[in-house]
Amino acid sequence: MKTIDVCLSPELMHLYDVRNRTVVVVDILRATSTMVTALAHGAESITPFAKAEECLEMKYRGYITSGERDGKKIEGFSKGNSPFEYMDDQVRGMKIAFTTTNGTQAIEKSKEAKEVLIGSFLNLSTVVKYLLLGENNVLLVCAGWKGRVNLEDTLFAGAVVEKLKDYLGPDCDAPLAARHLYNQAKGNMIAFLSESSHVKRLNRLNIHRDFEFCLTPDQYKVLPKLKNGVLVI
Ligand code: MLT
Repeated sequence: MKTIDVCLSPELMHLYDVRNRTVVVVDILRATSTMVTALAHGAESITPFAKAEECLEMKYRGYITSGERDGKKIEGFSKGNSPFEYMDDQVRGMKIAFTTTNGTQAIEKSKEAKEVLIGSFLNLSTVVKYLLLGENNVLLVCAGWKGRVNLEDTLFAGAVVEKLKDYLGPDCDAPLAARHLYNQAKGNMIAFLSESSHVKRLNRLNIHRDFEFCLTPDQYKVLPKLKNGVLVI
């Protein structure tokens, strides 16, 4: 039986050998939700950057420069990290250079994996179907917040583990913990997350609607994959 594990923070990545695994990077609020949205709306590619300065340089090569630090758009960048900024014709056919506080850092730390996918509630069923049919053991990498664990990424991991529980065996206790948490929350995830740290942060920035959108399952059928350092569908 294939296995599934959950890395609750990128700081724990050193515990996992990812070279033979399919890694799914998860940053529900909001990096991976926004990436899925942009590619679903016709963006040609997304190049993730850990460093903001390197990302900004890409504007001289015709890229849309996108991203945030601490949830806020970075000065000099074309776009921030709200999925709603990536639903219009401006992104169609464009290459995007993207940097975020946690999401693109988690991608950077996953680069050694056999394959790297991008997961969010917005493409949940597509992710699950792919993992079910794939040959590799799976690691779900939660981006968290600056090395700390967060609830929303853990809930997504739990949703994936729950849906695959008859087909992929848990490698350790983190997938079991995530699954129990998801089963407790799934009736009303918005209420369950209302006390969570990043939801409070987004509320302070007045972007509550992003939170609700990012928790909506199966808005899109795309599955972004990292190919030569670039995310494409
Ligand atoms: C991140 O990558 O840290 C997040 O996407 C932050 C945000 O909500 O903008």
